[in-house]
Amino acid sequence: MQREQLVDEIKVLMDLVEHNTTTLADSVMELDVDEYTDPEVFEREKRELFRNYPQFVGPSCLLPEPGDYFAFDDTGVPILIVRTPEGGLNAFVNICSHRGAPLNECAHGQAKKGRMFSCPYHGWSYDLQGKLIGVPFGKEGFDGIDRDALGLRRLDVQEKHGMIFVMPNPQLNFDIDEVLGGLQERLCGFGFDNHYYLGAKQVFTDFSWKLNMDTFHEYYHFEFLHPESIGQLAYSNVANYRQYGRNHSMGSPTLTINELRDIPEQQWQPREYCSFVNYIFPNTVIFVVNDHFQTWRVYPISRDRSVVYHSMFLPEKPADGQERQQYEEYFQMINDVAVTEDYSLVDRINRGLQAGIERKILVGRNEPGVQNMHRQIHAVLG
Ligand code: FES
Ligand SMILES: [Fe+2]
Repeated sequence: MQREQLVDEIKVLMDLVEHNTTTLADSVMELDVDEYTDPEVFEREKRELFRNYPQFVGPSCLLPEPGDYFAFDDTGVPILIVRTPEGGLNAFVNICSHRGAPLNECAHGQAKKGRMFSCPYHGWSYDLQGKLIGVPFGKEGFDGIDRDALGLRRLDVQEKHGMIFVMPNPQLNFDIDEVLGGLQERLCGFGFDNHYYLGAKQVFTDFSWKLNMDTFHEYYHFEFLHPESIGQLAYSNVANYRQYGRNHSMGSPTLTINELRDIPEQQWQPREYCSFVNYIFPNTVIFVVNDHFQTWRVYPISRDRSVVYHSMFLPEKPADGQERQQYEEYFQMINDVAVTEDYSLVDRINRGLQAGIERKILVGRNEPGVQNMHRQIHAVLG
């Protein structure tokens, strides 16, 4: 968002605070418990939402330099994405053409000498275009193989407005503008291409990926579940909801927003008084707060198990060890709130869902974000 839009957003948020209300959906939504527990629904979600639907990977600053790579296999297809010397991106199925090992040593790193991947199993190597360029003991051991046909399998990867998306299914392509649905209107101007990637935390949870995601889409619970933590920073049940294709964005006011009433508009520092939960269908939240942003990417493991990657991006590289330490502590604190407050409650919700009691789950008019995620899932699954 540019300054003018941020100022407009602040005015909307001040108005919502004044009237003690939030953006409302048209009606209350009902969900079946089955949607969280049925193994067949789960299999369809894995296939249609995580294999056949484009996945948000990260902001462009995740891979700033030629040869920088990022690998993940949480969608069910091992994926390797690399920044090319020309500044573009290539993505591959991360399966070596020999016996199938993944080519990366860690999730995020630099290709060997900045220009090739060498398989950790028997050393077959590939250039950044995925071409097979080296086979140790190849003359004798692999006599007669067609090397040109043994490059890495390509995936459709696209980057726009500082965001990277990839399609896990090698047989499918996508249109990034359609995927974004205009969300860039809310995300441009936050510097997604020039922040510093501090790192990611991996958290496993013993409940459905959708229960995990549900926690991010409403501010209704702040006062009750987070009275001592984020409830001290932001209003409960106050948010400005906007729809962008399948995605949405919610602006939220800080508790201090009314200070702006005494400050001339030209002097406002809008980002100090609001934060944004931006949802990218199906599984990502980009949380933009004051001077930095975080991403949360959630993946299904089984019907009642999921994993979340929480990543932190700072406006600048920390100047020294001490500053890094401060950011690391802050990062840990935010992660702890989610784990100890949200996830421990969701664990107990999950027990209720698994209890076999026939009932409906209700999603209020004041929870339009939760409604949107489920509406979009219904639309894709049919
Ligand atoms: S599996 Fe990659 S070189 Fe053998
Ligand atoms: Fe929460």
